[in-house]
Amino acid sequence: MKKIQIALDGPAGAGKSTIAKQLAARLDYVYIDTGAMYRAVTLAALEQSLDLNNGETLGELMKSLDIRLTPGENGQRVFIGDREVTDAIRSIEITNNVSFVARQKEVRAALVTAQRKLAERGGIVMDGRDIGTVVLPDAELKVFLTATVEERAARRHRENIARGMDSDITILQEEIALRDKRDSEREVSPLRQADDALYLDTTEMTIDEVVVRLMELAEGVL
Ligand code: C5P
Repeated sequence: MKKIQIALDGPAGAGKSTIAKQLAARLDYVYIDTGAMYRAVTLAALEQSLDLNNGETLGELMKSLDIRLTPGENGQRVFIGDREVTDAIRSIEITNNVSFVARQKEVRAALVTAQRKLAERGGIVMDGRDIGTVVLPDAELKVFLTATVEERAARRHRENIARGMDSDITILQEEIALRDKRDSEREVSPLRQADDALYLDTTEMTIDEVVVRLMELAEGVL
């Protein structure tokens, strides 16, 4: 069977990674979470006390940064060189700073090149903000996944509680809205739906329902 490229884009907390992971498992495809790559750059930049608003400085960092993704039991594992940063890149500090790093064209150019290489043989489900528009414009299936900001914050809140973490739904909603604003208003590759992407509002859908719908769509192009 043909091994296609599937691009999933959408705002923060729309369930993209959970859905992409399950879809990839069902299709026996590789799952790539591109947000993790921007997060890893942010972690390295913060550790080196670099100015997150300086594209040239971050461009220099990109030359020496070795970000590796490997499949793990619970999805994708992330390494900088030999050091595993899978959990470290999920901190609140990284979450609230990643949009600054992601708007630098030097960072995007390096990561987009790496992402295209990972996808070149197909059999891939890639999630992010610019996959359908910039990274894989020829992907056979493109979906723009979204949900209301209230629902996205509520989902994140439930996840945090289930993990035994402190969580404030109002703060989550504000953080998500702010990150969406920064990602949508940046000059380089802003978050937007590709013209040929299917728009899917998941506010009223369960994860399983979304996965089933995406499987149907994928089977339609296989
Ligand atoms: O997907 P996740 O929420 O982990 O992404 C973290 C951040 O990385 C986003 O808020 C965005 O700033 C950036 N990002 C991006 N382009 C992508 C994936 C993520 O700009 N393809």
